[in-house]
Amino acid sequence: ERRLLPFLLVFVLTAIAGVAASITRDDFPPDFIFGAGTSAYQVEGAAAEDGRKPSIWDTYAHSGRTRDKKTADITADQYHHYKEDVKLMKKLCLDAYRFSISWSRLIPDGRGRINPKGLQYYNNLINELIINGIQPHVTLHHFDHPQALEDEYGGLVSPKMIEDFTAYADLCFKEFGDRVKYWSTFNEPNVEAILGYDVALFPPGRCSSPFGSNCSAGDSRTEPYISAHNILLAHASAATLYKEKYQKEQRGQIGITIIGFWFEPSTNATDDVAAVKRTMEFHIGWFLQPLVYGDYPATMKDIVKSRLPIFSKEESSRLKASFDFIGLNHYNVLYLQSNPTKFDYNERDYFRDLSIKLGDHHMEGLLKVKASPWGLQRILEYIKANYRNPPIIIHENGYSTHGANSTAPGYDFNDHERVNYIKEYIESLHTSIRNGSNTFGYFIWSFIDCFELVFGYTSKFGLYGVDFSKKERPRYPHLSAQWYSNFLRCGGRET
Ligand code: NOJ
Repeated sequence: ERRLLPFLLVFVLTAIAGVAASITRDDFPPDFIFGAGTSAYQVEGAAAEDGRKPSIWDTYAHSGRTRDKKTADITADQYHHYKEDVKLMKKLCLDAYRFSISWSRLIPDGRGRINPKGLQYYNNLINELIINGIQPHVTLHHFDHPQALEDEYGGLVSPKMIEDFTAYADLCFKEFGDRVKYWSTFNEPNVEAILGYDVALFPPGRCSSPFGSNCSAGDSRTEPYISAHNILLAHASAATLYKEKYQKEQRGQIGITIIGFWFEPSTNATDDVAAVKRTMEFHIGWFLQPLVYGDYPATMKDIVKSRLPIFSKEESSRLKASFDFIGLNHYNVLYLQSNPTKFDYNERDYFRDLSIKLGDHHMEGLLKVKASPWGLQRILEYIKANYRNPPIIIHENGYSTHGANSTAPGYDFNDHERVNYIKEYIESLHTSIRNGSNTFGYFIWSFIDCFELVFGYTSKFGLYGVDFSKKERPRYPHLSAQWYSNFLRCGGRET
């Protein structure tokens, strides 16, 4: 028996090492999709070129409301650099690239006349991706509503938007659907409704709450709920059209993308635990409950009462049949403390328990604070348990660093913190899948440095840095690009 001891020891040590070893790509299902993403306004540039007209983000940025007062008129200039970017994606070994279409590049007035140069651009980009073996994953609406429709009838707060969005989506399915197999209708409507209509950190910058920045018009009590309602109906309308007219032939999938933070109670007190439940309903239940069960969560109905719009029976059943997958953007865990007192200026129930005020420009904190990869498991588990375990693509997960251009003196390309963050989240995702989550794709935000919305160029997420001070907008690989390409088993190629 003694002779067996060394063997036993080796066996135990190997087992321990095996458990401790990092996850590799081969630990995921073979058809699992790994990618990285961006959005049109944040990377395209060419804002007034080839017939594009402004979106509400152009107007907002030009009003000087971003942190560094900058706009995305040029940003990373992907409009002129898409070929070079696709080369980098190929070197990275990406399966897929997530990008969005600028509605006002394709249909400059939001409705009616189609811009041939817009069509050409997206055809070029899609073809370049396909030739290089990279799947295009396309978002139709990533915050950049056409300004013309905002001016005409108030954009998202008007139900007229539903018809215009459906016509725009129809054009995209018709023109690009032979090659695009993954569509997301809207990105983060649960962010857009609040930041655009309650605190004015996003266009159209409407709000009536004292936490808002420079509110001049709007009604924080109703407009977030109305815009979200119209978005849900526009999503259902476009998805129904896709399913009835295109899906059989094109064999693609359609979904919608929401942000999902994970919330933890600050203490074990019953009130704090109840605050988490309530906040989750307002945060993701707002969208997932109508999509999965056809109506808003009971908690929301009780609290928001007559300010919450109502779905007809037909709308409910449409919603329930309107998605093949849910896109989930996840960055972080936030801690909640019950706040039993209602704010007296309105009833901003969706984050009344949150101790961080969005109006404080704390969003960076929301996105950045310490990596808490277990939060991803919690939210996936929560969605699995409460929303019938839908197919999920993680559409965004990533790490922001502050500021400087990548050619600034002392700039460190070795973004170890980002590497650790991504690695830990991929490991956490792997555990979730092993525990039964139906997740089939993961995209890092972002492929290259972007114009980071209200933070302008002061916050960056890119696997590749972009030197925004140079006309040619050169891209530089961060260590995280090298890491991701190794993980994706393309390590031998130069990034
Ligand atoms: C949310 C948005 O979808 C994207 O536009 C943004 O840049 C990232 N997450 C980071 O804030």
